[in-house]
Amino acid sequence: MSADEMDTGRRRFLTATASVIGGIGAVCAAFPFLASWTPSIRARALGAPIDVDISKIEPGQKITVAWRGQPIFIVHRTREELDGLTIVAEHLRDPLSQESVQPTYADNIYRSIKPDILVLIGICTHLGCVPLYKPEVGSVETGWEGGFFCPCHGSKYDMAGRVYKGVPAPLNLPVPPYQYINDTLIRVGDDGQQGTGAA
Ligand code: FES
Repeated sequence: MSADEMDTGRRRFLTATASVIGGIGAVCAAFPFLASWTPSIRARALGAPIDVDISKIEPGQKITVAWRGQPIFIVHRTREELDGLTIVAEHLRDPLSQESVQPTYADNIYRSIKPDILVLIGICTHLGCVPLYKPEVGSVETGWEGGFFCPCHGSKYDMAGRVYKGVPAPLNLPVPPYQYINDTLIRVGDDGQQGTGAA
């Protein structure tokens, strides 16, 4: 690498660093402004619902968006993945999600409004790590039908976020409140029935 190239690389790094620091400054500057709002406006801003375009999520693909500072997993499940939900049921701690957190409209085997689109809060119910998306059959262990694997202490969840028996996580991944605005747009954090959700 020539001196010129090194200089260019260093300049880029410094520029990038300055941008990040500038970004942090902007965030810090925003908080006094936020603090000056009334508690109700501030609460609404921090917990505001988010609209997510799901039209580009291919079958088998997951995207992650942020809501209330939490990762929200949105997965477009394939027909095979939906069939796998029945196959793994006997290995799950709470296959009917009776002890788990989900709105009533997601209280079904798919844990979703429409079977193919899954919406979950992506925080492990053990100690709060963010599980990895492992959709490939057999990618975690023999008989694995796809799902989420938490590398922190080995908790496993199926393709509906239902936790396996024999792992440290006690509960299924929660489903946040959400609704369909139209076929390709969902709103997370407001289900239109109970206002902004408390999940
Ligand atoms: S935090 Fe996920 S297994 Fe412990």
